[in-house]
Amino acid sequence: MMMSSHSLFWFFILSASYLAALTSPALLFQGFNWESCKKEGGWYNSLRNLVPDLAKAGITHVWLPPPSQSAAPEGYMPGRLYDLNASSYGNQDELKQLIDAFHQMGIKCLADIVINHRTAEKQDSRGKWCIFEGGTPDRRLDWGPSFICRDDTKYSDGTGNLDTGKDFEPAPDIDHLNPRVQKELSDWMNWLKRDIGFDGWQFNFVQGYAPNITKIYMNRTSPDFAVGEKGDPLSYGQDGKLNPDQDAHRRALGDWVNAAGGAVTAFDFTTKGILQVAVQGELWRLMDSNGMPPGLIGLQPRSAVTFIDNHNTGSTQNNSPFPSEKVMQGYAYILTHPGVPSIFYDHFFDLGLKEEIGKLTEIRKRNNINEKSSVKILASDSDLYVAEIDHGVIVKIGSKFEVGDLVPPNYQIATSGSDYCVWVKQ
Ligand SMILES: *[C@@H]1O[C@H](CO)[C@@H](O)[C@H](O)[C@H]1NC(C)=O
Ligand SMILES: *[C@@H]1O[C@H](CO)[C@@H](O)[C@H](O)[C@H]1NC(C)=O
Ligand SMILES: *[C@@H]1O[C@H](CO)[C@@H](O)[C@H](O)[C@H]1NC(C)=O
Repeated sequence: MMMSSHSLFWFFILSASYLAALTSPALLFQGFNWESCKKEGGWYNSLRNLVPDLAKAGITHVWLPPPSQSAAPEGYMPGRLYDLNASSYGNQDELKQLIDAFHQMGIKCLADIVINHRTAEKQDSRGKWCIFEGGTPDRRLDWGPSFICRDDTKYSDGTGNLDTGKDFEPAPDIDHLNPRVQKELSDWMNWLKRDIGFDGWQFNFVQGYAPNITKIYMNRTSPDFAVGEKGDPLSYGQDGKLNPDQDAHRRALGDWVNAAGGAVTAFDFTTKGILQVAVQGELWRLMDSNGMPPGLIGLQPRSAVTFIDNHNTGSTQNNSPFPSEKVMQGYAYILTHPGVPSIFYDHFFDLGLKEEIGKLTEIRKRNNINEKSSVKILASDSDLYVAEIDHGVIVKIGSKFEVGDLVPPNYQIATSGSDYCVWVKQ
């Protein structure tokens, strides 16, 4: 059978748009905050109603909270890893329905993987909390004190390996050099993929174990996308300003990614820390000594996940919040710059910025701004930052000029708001 030129035309149009959809650059969404575990009727059920809004905004991946039974309601003190029915966010069936709803809209789901530490189910004969249960009848992940790092003396029996990372004080640190730990945790993560429907991972507290351990879990579980939370604080000088350690800070993020095999990405805590100071009259901070963005995106953009706030820095924990009246300037920056941007639930829904953020995500998509887009910084002053992205998009942040004063030739305004504007080449 021969195709008419008419149907050939549609064939090419359809396959081109199919390919475009397949290769859409990643855009993350953090789908919970510190209070989500208290939601009446369950968080999974509640979030399911919002799936269409997220699809409309072009979100490709949503980061969901830790799914397993946990001694703390937020999920970060997990114990029975296979037990997804005792979670305060909802039960296993509700989680699967939520993931199905995301999948129907083409959005992938990341599980929050908390494996540095684990809470025990019982005490042993010495009275130490070190008897773990996985939550399955066939006793997978049922471990004892020899699976705890030797230097975590409050819980261990002294037979495990030394911890390869930072200690997490409130719970036993798991010995990830133990081959059975590596195998059984990989099996559990593959179960989350195969049986529950997860597509990738957010690795919690990756400073807790060596990056070569992350590499092992990456290798054995082949996630569609993964990001690590290496949230070391950015140091501030005595005057409350950033000091030159910021370069070491972003290098440490890049080094972690590379030592973990290079396929995983890292939250760009350097960009987050600098940006939130910069928008308070110090926009000159947004250019490094090479004329590039000062965060991980200026060094190794394909490995960086940029964000403004998360459930720790913002929400009700608020340990390093982005100034609330400048949030849109933050999104104007991350949604026009390289790296993989991540949008926070609280900003999108609770602050009511869905439409305003949506305009930026649409510009990003339409102009194919992606994790490796180029940046040319045109101005970086106390109250003005201007950058050209990929020779077709110009973004301005800061109060210096009224939008109308500063129209680049052959460009037109694509969106603007309080102290920010984005132009696109005509
Ligand atoms: C959780 O509930 C589901 C559905 O009812 C069930 O299939 C599963 O075995 C339960 N898991 C546990 C650990 O009880
Ligand atoms: C990973 O690094 C740790 C030290 O940080 C080392 O003890 C261990 O042998 C390494 N493991 C592998 C598989 O390379
Ligand atoms: C995992 O590592 C092995 C051994 O280095 C390698 O042969 C294999 O290709 C890797 N698999 C993936 C999915 O990266």
